[in-house]
Amino acid sequence: MNREKLIEFIDVQFNYNSRKNLFYNRENKSNIRPTKEFLIGCSELKEEIKVCLDDEYENDKYDALSSYFTKRAIKLFTENNQYLYFQRKSCEDLKRLYSSYIFDIHRLLKTKSITWQKIERLLYRHSNNLCNFLINTNGENVFTSKSNKYIDKIICEEYSSKLQVDILNINTNKILEPVLDIGCGSNFGLVKYLRYKGIESYGIDRNVQNNSFLYKLDWFDFRFRRDYWGTIVSHMAFSNHAYHHIKKKDLHKDKFFVKIKEILYSIKSGGSFIYAPGLPILENSIDKIDGFKVNIHSLGYAMDSRLYCTTITRE
Ligand SMILES: C[S@@+](CC[C@H](N)C(=O)[O-])C[C@H]1O[C@@H](n2cnc3c(N)ncnc32)[C@H](O)[C@@H]1O
Repeated sequence: MNREKLIEFIDVQFNYNSRKNLFYNRENKSNIRPTKEFLIGCSELKEEIKVCLDDEYENDKYDALSSYFTKRAIKLFTENNQYLYFQRKSCEDLKRLYSSYIFDIHRLLKTKSITWQKIERLLYRHSNNLCNFLINTNGENVFTSKSNKYIDKIICEEYSSKLQVDILNINTNKILEPVLDIGCGSNFGLVKYLRYKGIESYGIDRNVQNNSFLYKLDWFDFRFRRDYWGTIVSHMAFSNHAYHHIKKKDLHKDKFFVKIKEILYSIKSGGSFIYAPGLPILENSIDKIDGFKVNIHSLGYAMDSRLYCTTITRE
């Protein structure tokens, strides 16, 4: 067995457990269950996997494998709940956690008899580690539902470029370049549309593929250059998250205030930050920040009072 085969194996395990609530029944036993493939691996393929893990340890102390696990887990966590945040340092912590999980599996495979209890213990320890990691990085309040075996996915949709242009009230003849779309989505529809119109546009999203105009990054890790952007837009992304965290007064709320300020000062004179939904706490305080003007554009058909679009222009 080589690394690719092993990764296929890991993927099956991830897919199988992808909707499980890690916090369910936490004090008793792990809600992560082994797949049939995992159990076969522990018996029939034991020797092959062990040799492969020996190699992985020799080559890079499981570095490539634990990186893979980490990326896969972060993707899964944020797909299930778009409001979760993991900074680079937390990803390093998660990688260490996966490295010790791989070490435990490796050790298990070296034992003579692999019993059901040993597998249970290993999964229990690992899922408890994951729970602690989630609490440490995002706070306990986020994970309130402990009685359901499966998690309720928090939906994160992408919208057509036409709808975004309408809601953000973008005039492609007047928009100041360069344009940056924060949370542009994996399909980066608005960026594509603006570029098609010949407008120099870029996007950031934690779920895009990097290229010359897209940055696969967490928006907290993006450095907003001072006095640089003509227009910054964000539809159903940055302001939506800011509202959620500020309202919950959770671990991340202060980071949003800091980032908002950085975004505002990265706009050059005459440029704007255009976003929807609205962020009342920002709009109500902007008068106190010299050199910015707020304009609210209500969406006539909106059912929710926060569903309006805001343009903050730097004078
Ligand atoms: C509801 S979608 C909106 C996408 C797009 N703006 C649209 O209207 O179609 C929100 C987007 O924000 C991205 N996102 C959420 N948190 C993020 C973060 N911390 N850093 C970068 N992107 C993030 C998600 O990956 C997702 O693509």
